Amino acid sequence: MKRIVVVNGPNLNLLGKREPHIYGTRTHADLVKTLRAKARELGVTVSVFQSNDEGEIIDFLQKEAPGALGIVINPAALSHYSLALFDCLQALEVPTVEVHISNLFARAGAFRQQSVTASAAAGIISGLGPRGYLLAMEYLNAVDE
Ligand code: DQA
Repeated sequence: MKRIVVVNGPNLNLLGKREPHIYGTRTHADLVKTLRAKARELGVTVSVFQSNDEGEIIDFLQKEAPGALGIVINPAALSHYSLALFDCLQALEVPTVEVHISNLFARAGAFRQQSVTASAAAGIISGLGPRGYLLAMEYLNAVDE
């Protein structure tokens, strides 16, 4: 069965509690439920992983992403500085969509307007809330159609 890998980076375990005016009131568990429902609708399986640790994310991707249809990743703050994650995504050569819940370009803090990981992705979705993950899954499912 076709498989999509979804990865969430540091602090996304706090969804629902963390700055709800920016990230919304739905929890990470709510997001996982929505991703599983989307996977059923698309007829694919989904492996979801969240970690606050850069190395764990890279280990997970190296193990789980080869052979997958695609990667949906919200690297969170790692987007802004993790060249190790960029190298990992680049090395894997698995179609990737980078997702951000908030619109990075509408946020305060110049560092947020830069993603060092995005250039390893086919594209980015930023600012569409949790729906961004679902749109990314739809894209990856249809990528070779
Ligand atoms: C985020 C945006 C990042 O700048 C931030 O560090 C996050 C979440 C988003 O989903 O909007 O942790 O990736």
